[in-house]
Amino acid sequence: MSQLNSSLPAWGAVAAHAQDLAKMHLRDLCASDPKRWQHFHVEHDGWLLDISRQRITPQTLTLLLDLANAVDLPARMAAMFRGDPINSTEQRAVLHAALRSDFAGGADIQNEVKASREKLAAFVSAVRGGKKVGVTGKRFKHVVNIGIGGSDLGPLLVCDALRHEWSGDLTPHFVSNVDRTQLEDLTRSIDPAETLVIVCSKTFITQETQANANAARAWIVGVLGEKAPANHFVAVSTNSQAMDKFGIAADHRFTMWDWVGGRYSVWSAVGLIAELVIGTDRFVEFLNGASDIDRHFTTTPFQKNLPVLMGLIGVWNRTFLALPTLAVLPYDQRLARLPAYLQQLEMESNGKSVSLNGQHVNFATAPIVWGEPGSNAQHSFFQMLHQGTLTQALDFIAPLLSSWGGTEAQDLALQNCFAQSQAFAYGHTLPDVEAEMRKAGVSAAEITRIGPHRVHEGNRPNSLLMYPRTTARTLGQLLALYEHNVFVQGCVWGINSFDQFGVELGKKLAAGIDMSGAKPPQGIGAAGLASLINYVATHRQNRDQ
Ligand code: F6P
Repeated sequence: MSQLNSSLPAWGAVAAHAQDLAKMHLRDLCASDPKRWQHFHVEHDGWLLDISRQRITPQTLTLLLDLANAVDLPARMAAMFRGDPINSTEQRAVLHAALRSDFAGGADIQNEVKASREKLAAFVSAVRGGKKVGVTGKRFKHVVNIGIGGSDLGPLLVCDALRHEWSGDLTPHFVSNVDRTQLEDLTRSIDPAETLVIVCSKTFITQETQANANAARAWIVGVLGEKAPANHFVAVSTNSQAMDKFGIAADHRFTMWDWVGGRYSVWSAVGLIAELVIGTDRFVEFLNGASDIDRHFTTTPFQKNLPVLMGLIGVWNRTFLALPTLAVLPYDQRLARLPAYLQQLEMESNGKSVSLNGQHVNFATAPIVWGEPGSNAQHSFFQMLHQGTLTQALDFIAPLLSSWGGTEAQDLALQNCFAQSQAFAYGHTLPDVEAEMRKAGVSAAEITRIGPHRVHEGNRPNSLLMYPRTTARTLGQLLALYEHNVFVQGCVWGINSFDQFGVELGKKLAAGIDMSGAKPPQGIGAAGLASLINYVATHRQNRDQ
C-alpha cells in the first residue's frame, strides 16, 4: 500500500522549515527583506496575487514547490484535463474545465458541450426575445431557480455579482431552503403567468429541491391550470426518468453529466438563470474568463502560477502553520455571496480525512471557510481577528474599480482593505502603543492601564487578490482560480476532492424520521429522538391554542 503524502521527504522538509519559521514574526520577515513585495507578488492578465504578507520566505516557496512536484501535481493536472477518472471513489472523470475550455476532455465531450451550449443559447434567446412565453401568452418577467448547494450557490453568486450587467426584463429569484420560506415570499409577490421556473438538480432526487419544485408546481397549476407546467417549468438534470415523472417538456430539459460535480457546475446548464439574466454574450465572457485561468493553470511555470501558489499557501497555512480557518473578505459588495460559494467549493471538496488509498490522514486538511464583504466585516468580527486568541488566515479580494463606475468610494474601500491587511500582518506593538499615547499627552498611569488592551499582535497571514473590475470575465477568472486552488490543495493532501459522502448520512437519517410519531425511531439515540419529536408535537399544539 502506498504511503500518505506526509511521509514524503519533501513534506518533511516543509514541516521542518515551518518549525524554524514558527518563531519569526511578519515584522521580522518584512524588515529583513525590503524587496519583499517584489519577491512575493505575481501578475496575470490584470490580476495581482500579493502574498508578501504571508508567513513565508523564498525558501518556503522553494520547498512548497518541491512538494508540489513530489506529489506529482503536473501529472494530476494532466489527468484531470485529459478526463481520467480521478474521482476514484465514484470512478468519474472531473471535467468541469471542458465546459469552458476546448482543450479539456476529448472530442466527444467537446461535441456534447457544444450541443448543450447551442441549445441553451437558443432557449435564452427565445425567452429574452419574447418568442417563448407563459401559458396565457404573457412574456416572462421572473425566473425562479429551485436548487440547493451547487445547483444554487453558483448561479446565485453570478446573478448577484453581475447585477450591473443584467440586461432585458428578467428578474432572477432563488429558492433553496427546505423550509419553503423563500417560495412563500415569492408566490405572494410575483405573477405566475409571468414566471419561468428552473428546477435545477443534477440528481433530481434532492429532498429540498423536490419539495420546493412540487410546491411551485402546485402554485402554478392552482392559478394557471394543469397544462401550465409545460410552459412554465424547465429542468437541468442528468435524471431523465425523474424529469419525465415531473412532466418537464422535452425541449425544456438541459443536460448535465456525471463528470461535472455540483459545486463545479455553474459553467454548465446550471448557470441557465444567469445566462437568461445577463444574456448569452456575457455568459460566454464568464466562460472565457474561466478558460483563461485554465490555460494559465496548465501552461504557466509553478512559481508564477496563481492557483498553484494560492493552493500551496493554503496548505502551508492550514497544515504546516495549523491555522484553522480561512476568512474570505471581498472588498466589493457585489461579491457578498462569494464566501458562501467558496464554503461549498472548499469544504465539500477538501473536507476529507481519508487519503486516496483509504488511509486516515495524520495532518489537517480543509480549513473552515467563512467571511463577509469588507468594510462591513470590519465592524463585526474583525475585532476577534485582530485581538482574539485564535490566529486565522485571510484572503482579501478587491477590484481596482467599482462596478458602478466611480472611483471615489472604491478608493475608500481599497484604503480600508490595505489598512486591514497591514494591521493583520504587522500589528501594533506595545512600545508603539505607548509612544503614541505619550505623544497624545496620556498620563503614565493611564498608559500602563490601557496600553496592553491596544496592542495588536499581528502576524495574521493574509493574501490580496486584485483585479480590474467585477465583470463577467473577471468573475469567471476568480471562480476558476479558486477551483484550481482547491484542486492543488487536494493533490498535496492526497485526498479525493470530488466526492461528498459526508453529506449522505444526514440525508438518510432525515428520510427515516417520521415527524408524526407513528413510526418510532430505532437504533442508537432513538429515545432522545423520540422525545424531540414528541416535544415538537406537544409544544406546537400549545402554540396553536
Ligand atoms: O448534499 C450535497 C449535494 O449533493 C451537493 O454536492 C450538490 O451540489 C447538492 O447536494 C445538490 O444536488 P443536486 O443538484 O443533485 O440536487
